[in-house]
Amino acid sequence: MSINNTYKEALIHPIFEYISKAASNLQLETYVIGGFVRDFFLERGTPKDIDIVAVGSGIDLANEVAKLLPNKPKVQVFKTYGTAMLRFDDIEIEFVGARKESYNEDSRNPVVEDGTLEDDQNRRDFTINALALSLNKADFGTLLDPFNGIKDLESKIIRTPLNPDITYSDDPLRMMRAIRFATQLGFTIETASLEAISRNAERIDIITRERIVDELNKIMLADVPSVGFILLYDTNLLDRFLPELTALKGVEEVEGQKHKDNFYHTFEVVDNISKNTNDLWLRWAALLHDIGKAPTKKFHKTLGWTFHGHEFVGSKMVYKLFKRMRLPMNNKMKFVQKMVLLSSRPIVLATEVTDSAVRRLIFDAGDDVESLMTLCEADITTKNPSRFKKYHKNFDIVRNKIKEVEERDHVRNFQPPISGELIMETFNLKPCREIGQIKDAIKEAILEGEIPNEYDAAYEFMLKRAEKLGLKV
Ligand code: CTP
Repeated sequence: MSINNTYKEALIHPIFEYISKAASNLQLETYVIGGFVRDFFLERGTPKDIDIVAVGSGIDLANEVAKLLPNKPKVQVFKTYGTAMLRFDDIEIEFVGARKESYNEDSRNPVVEDGTLEDDQNRRDFTINALALSLNKADFGTLLDPFNGIKDLESKIIRTPLNPDITYSDDPLRMMRAIRFATQLGFTIETASLEAISRNAERIDIITRERIVDELNKIMLADVPSVGFILLYDTNLLDRFLPELTALKGVEEVEGQKHKDNFYHTFEVVDNISKNTNDLWLRWAALLHDIGKAPTKKFHKTLGWTFHGHEFVGSKMVYKLFKRMRLPMNNKMKFVQKMVLLSSRPIVLATEVTDSAVRRLIFDAGDDVESLMTLCEADITTKNPSRFKKYHKNFDIVRNKIKEVEERDHVRNFQPPISGELIMETFNLKPCREIGQIKDAIKEAILEGEIPNEYDAAYEFMLKRAEKLGLKV
């Protein structure tokens, strides 16, 4: 790669012809900038969005492009920001006028003035995101790289165009973006930048939770998410929005007994699970599976370190954490809660695999039983190779047992073979406590393996049970 070269091959998508034509019609200097250019050089595949900067009105340019396009797409205008967006070929194309911009100290409201391309590149977050390719007829495809972004791409460095204190202070979310890009791309954040992030960490408080979560999710979906989480911790950012995690940090010793560092263990689990699933919420479950350990930690004279009930406490904490972080309060949250609550169950099972315990696990986990097994396998972080092998082997046994029991007993999404209505009819009852008691007893008998999950056996069991309760047919 060389600087100030021409890269027409980056601009073969037909949209660039249209933009170039529109720019020429309006006599506006126009460039494609940001992620599209970065990802072209990194060969990261088809873009989902393209950012266009015009020296002049981005809105006028967007309207002119829409006029030229055969399908005449709708232009969405964001007047307050002076930007416009249109969709073409499933790609979002954002238009903005080149700006000279600074933010005042306490708010995200920018003070904006029109500027040159170089002013605009100056106010971008990273040198690798400030690369621009010309869409102007005279020098179509020419790279404009005033901060050696190409060199930083080659040496895999995240660096800000300006003094990092200014860049991060202008938009503190960029501190998270630096860490997110480092994690996604396997880049290193240059030292001056890393120090500036640590210094400015508390400025993250002015950023909305939604924007923070967007970045967190991207870190979470990277190949090795721990890279990002450890950077977030080292720069003091993590503690500002996920103190439940930083509370897990450290190893205590009492009477010569230590517990493991649940903080680093957690990240190992997240990395492990990321090799086996791209499900964002299962990855979140891995991140949060031990959060109940900080508030439940106790030292016990004979038992040593205990974390009694940490799964239950942890699942309650999931609710509060999701609410505070504006994470979705729907079935995603419930799924994470359930995973945290059940996170120790298969481990207990692995030492003694009984049919009834497997049936209870399938009953409680329902359709999420495979996800739960994936989580528990990721939880095996022992450094002892023979134990590592043994635990995995035990989980293979549990998985096979789950299949076998499920094929035979069908307790996943359990539907009681005897309904409340049938109990009422049989014993001529009005709604009362006994109906629930009988239904529960049938369910327990099935889970314990006393009777099969079938109508006839359950009917007979019901008759016996009702007799004990003094009910008559
Ligand atoms: N940008 C910035 N500061 C931010 C956000 C964005 O300077 N806080 C600039 C960068 O030049 C960036 C461009 O706006 O490249 C587009 O931002 P965005 O679409 O959010 O990110 P991309 O770089 O395209 O990367 P990704 O799609 O992976 O988020």
